[in-house]
Amino acid sequence: MNKLTAQQLRDTYLKFFESKGHKIIPSASLIPENDPSVLFTTAGMHPLVPYLLGEKHPAGNRLTDVQKCVRTGDIDEVGDKSHLTFFEMLGNWSLGDYFNEQAIKWSYEFLTEYLHIPVEKLAVTVFAGDDDAPRDVSSFEQWKACGIPEDKIFFLPKKNNWWIAGKTGPCGPDTEMFIDTDPEGEDCDPSSDNGRYLEIWNNVFMQFYKNEDGSYSKLKQRNVDTGMGLERTLCILNGVESVYDTELFYTAKQKIFDLTGKAYGDSAEITKAYRIILDHVRTATFLIGDTRGIVPSNVDQGYVLRRLIRRAVRFGRNIDLPTGSLAEIARCYVEKYSYYYDELALNAQKIYDELNKEEEKFTKTLADGLKEFNKVITHIQGATFPGKTAFRLYDMFGFPLEITMELAKENGFTVDVDGYNKAFEEHQAKSSAGSEQKFKGGLADTSEATARLHTATHLMQAALKKVLSPTVSQKGSNITVERLRFDFNFDRPMTAEEIAEVERLVNEAIKADVPVTMEEMTVDQAKASGAIGVFDNKYGEKVKVYTMGEFSKEICGGPHANRTGELGTFKIIKEQSSSAGIRRIKAVLIGNEQ
Ligand code: ALA
Repeated sequence: MNKLTAQQLRDTYLKFFESKGHKIIPSASLIPENDPSVLFTTAGMHPLVPYLLGEKHPAGNRLTDVQKCVRTGDIDEVGDKSHLTFFEMLGNWSLGDYFNEQAIKWSYEFLTEYLHIPVEKLAVTVFAGDDDAPRDVSSFEQWKACGIPEDKIFFLPKKNNWWIAGKTGPCGPDTEMFIDTDPEGEDCDPSSDNGRYLEIWNNVFMQFYKNEDGSYSKLKQRNVDTGMGLERTLCILNGVESVYDTELFYTAKQKIFDLTGKAYGDSAEITKAYRIILDHVRTATFLIGDTRGIVPSNVDQGYVLRRLIRRAVRFGRNIDLPTGSLAEIARCYVEKYSYYYDELALNAQKIYDELNKEEEKFTKTLADGLKEFNKVITHIQGATFPGKTAFRLYDMFGFPLEITMELAKENGFTVDVDGYNKAFEEHQAKSSAGSEQKFKGGLADTSEATARLHTATHLMQAALKKVLSPTVSQKGSNITVERLRFDFNFDRPMTAEEIAEVERLVNEAIKADVPVTMEEMTVDQAKASGAIGVFDNKYGEKVKVYTMGEFSKEICGGPHANRTGELGTFKIIKEQSSSAGIRRIKAVLIGNEQ
C-alpha cells in the first residue's frame, strides 16, 4: 500500500478524478448557507443538493473536491480508533452524467492502482433490493468484473445500503467499500461492528427523492455521489492503529504530551482523553476558523461548539491539561492545515481568543459543578440520576447534558433525560416570558424548592421525636434552595441506624403523598389539637397549623408544598454537633431540587 501524507492523498484523489474529466471545486463552508435544516455540512454532497436535483453547475457535470465535514451524531464514540467529529471527505460527482458501472470501475482503479490496496484486502456491499428499488445486480456484476471475488460482495438491506443526508431529500442505493483488516478473522459481513471491516468509501447512486410522507419520487437525473474518509484511508494506507496515529495529529499529540507529561497509549483512560481532546479541539478550530466561522453560544451551531470545547476541558482534567492549553493545541492544527485551508491562518487569532475565553469560563465552574455532582450521587437511591439535577448542573455550572450523562455513566447511573428536557423546557418557557415574568418565575421556583424543604423539616422533626425521644424539639432552622439545616436538643451523636430510620419514616410520609393542609386557630386550640411548635404567641392571636396526614402537625408560618409526594427522596447528608447538647442535621431532597 502507498504510504501517503494527507496532502499527497488529497492531491492523488483530485488529480485522478481530474484525469477522468472532473473539475476540482473548493471545499464549501462548514456552516451551510441558506439551509436551516442542518447545522453543519456533513457530507460533500451537501453544498451540491440543488445540482443533484437538476440545476446546472457552472463547473459542469463531473466534479471532485475535498470537503470539510462535521458530524456530531456519534460524539459518544469519539475516543475509539476511528470516530471523529471533524473529517475531510474526498468526493466525486456525476450530475446526471456517468452512473454506477463507471463509478465502480474508477473506484476500483483508484483503490488498487493508485493507493495500491491489494484486492484481497477489499470487501464491498451492494443494495439487496426492496419494494422501493430493485436489487442492485449491475453493481454486483461490475465489482465482480473488476476482480472482487463473489464472497467479498455482500448484499445488504436498506438499513445498510441506502444513503440519505437527513429525513427527506435526494437519496438512493449505495455501494460501500471496506478494508478487511483481519481476513482470517471471525466470519461476518461488513455490517458487523466487530471491527473486522473498516468502511473507507461510499458510492451513492442518487436517483430518488424521499418526500415528507415517506414516499420516493424519481429524480430528473441519475447522479453519483461519492465520499471517501481521508483520515480512515490514511490510517489504512500507513498501517497505523487508529486515525489519531496519522500524521495529521502528530504535532498536536506532541503538544499535549509537552503540556501534561502523560503519554498517549500509557493507559486506556489517557488514550481516550487524548483522542477526545485531539478531535474536539480540531473540530473547534475549523468551526471558529471557517469563512463563516462561529463562536460558542447557547444556541444552534454555537452550542455544539460550546459542548465540544467543554468536553475537551473536562477530559483535559483527567490528564492534568493546564488551562490555556486548547489554544496551544489549536495552534498545531492551524500550522498543520493552513497550507490547504488558508482560512485557518487568516482567523488564527480569533480561534485562540475564542478557545481561551470558553476554556476560562468553563474552568471556573467545572470544579464546583463536579463537587456538586459528587455530592448529589452520594444521596441517590437507585440508578437514576434526576433530570432536574442534570438541568441544574447545566444551568448553574454550564455542564452540557452529555458531560453529566458521561459522569453519571462512569458512576453507574443513568440520567433521566426526559426529566432534563422537561426542566429545560420549563426553563425556556419561563425565560421567554418577558423579563418581569422571568423574575417572577425565578422567585416562584426558589420558593417552591424551599417550601418543599420546609415541609421535609416538619416531617423530619416528627420522625426525630419518634426515633430519638418525644423531648426532642427544634432549636434552630435554616433553609436554602439546596438543603435544610435543623438544630435540635439531643445529647449524643445519632447512630447510623437512627439516621436510617428517620430517613425511612420521612420517605414513608413522602410516599404516602398526603395533602399538606393549613388551618388558622388560637394557640390553645393548636395545643389541644396536638400540634407541636413554639407556643409563645400572645393570648388570642391566631396561628397557622400545618398538618401532613398522620405524620405531622405543627405551628408554622409556611409556606409548604401542597402534598408530601412532591418532595422527592429525603436524605440526611450530615449529623454533627452544633453546640453543647445541640445536634445539627443537614438534609436534602433528591430528584426534586430547584
Ligand atoms: N454522501 C455519501 C456519504 O456521506 C457519499 O457517505
